[in-house]
Amino acid sequence: MSPSSAVYTTIHTLEFTGPVMNSACPWASNLEDLTALYNSPYTGGVTTRTATAEGFKEDPAIHQHAFTAIASLNCYGYSPFPLPDYLGWVHTLLEHASSRKPIIISITSDLPSEIEGMIMAIQYVRRELGDTSGITSRIGIELNTSCPNIASKPPPSYDPQALLPLLQVLAKAVYKDPTLTLGIKLPPYVIPSQFTGVLDAIASLQRPEDARNPISFLTCTNTLGGCIFGSDEAGKEGVQGEGWALPGGYGGMAGSALHAVSLGNVHRFATLLANHPSDAMRKISIIGVGGVEDAAGVKRMHKAGATMVECATALGRHGVDVFEKMQT
Ligand SMILES: Cc1cc2nc3c(=O)[nH]c(=O)nc-3n(C[C@H](O)[C@H](O)[C@H](O)COP(=O)(O)O)c2cc1C
Repeated sequence: MSPSSAVYTTIHTLEFTGPVMNSACPWASNLEDLTALYNSPYTGGVTTRTATAEGFKEDPAIHQHAFTAIASLNCYGYSPFPLPDYLGWVHTLLEHASSRKPIIISITSDLPSEIEGMIMAIQYVRRELGDTSGITSRIGIELNTSCPNIASKPPPSYDPQALLPLLQVLAKAVYKDPTLTLGIKLPPYVIPSQFTGVLDAIASLQRPEDARNPISFLTCTNTLGGCIFGSDEAGKEGVQGEGWALPGGYGGMAGSALHAVSLGNVHRFATLLANHPSDAMRKISIIGVGGVEDAAGVKRMHKAGATMVECATALGRHGVDVFEKMQT
């Protein structure tokens, strides 16, 4: 079946063709994965795995994932494939596609200049595909600010001071090209000041002359870092004799065990945004992700305030067919 073209909902210039899609994860790593996700009639959009400018050196002895009955746990960094690979694949997928289904390219760096270069490269491909000339667009960008697994690079989204210079680069790109739909991937927050801290940073980007904030969407949430499962819970032999599911023990947790936290994050951001004094802030959308694996989970995310709903763990467990079960 080929992708549907009917528009389910929009986030700024992106037109999603259904309520659910995948989030950035290893099951959206390469052209084969992305083609299967794009061609599924049950995905309303596609997100790539997070790309860095030059690729991430993946070591299979260290970078792994595990599934337990209630969760997934992973200690990956980012995609081994660099951004130029994703740009080639996205170009291939969209060049002859008849659907408006969008692809969100997930990128990351802690260097503002590198993010600027990555956005320029994406904008080049958007122009090539005629994506910057109309009122709708098929390529969006998500800046992943929340990977908990890299010891030397703490997620900037836990520190608004560190986040702000990265957000300012995103804002500059949107000031230059208002057709660009940009969002940020946030971690699970647990106390109120974390939510207001990140919203204050986003609100500071607002120019009085603009009707919209440069940030069009928040993707909530990434995995919860620093979690441990026993190897027995993951149904595997102890790694390196430690008895934990992952080498070194710690990883980012997702799946059902994260669902209540992610729902709480979506609900709290939705409430804060709906009551925000700025018209532009009230237009920011939320993509809900965390522990969703069926239609009931999708409905809960919508009820909490999500415009679109994503999953990673359920995709990893069940494959692309899971999106059929998630239709509402
Ligand atoms: C194995 C694995 C790898 C992931 N890699 C990324 C990534 O590269 N970038 C990112 O933004 N999120 C990544 N995530 C987080 C997911 O996109 C998602 O936010 C999180 O897992 C919660 O959703 P879920 O409960 O449906 O898995 C990863 C999750 C898993 C399970």
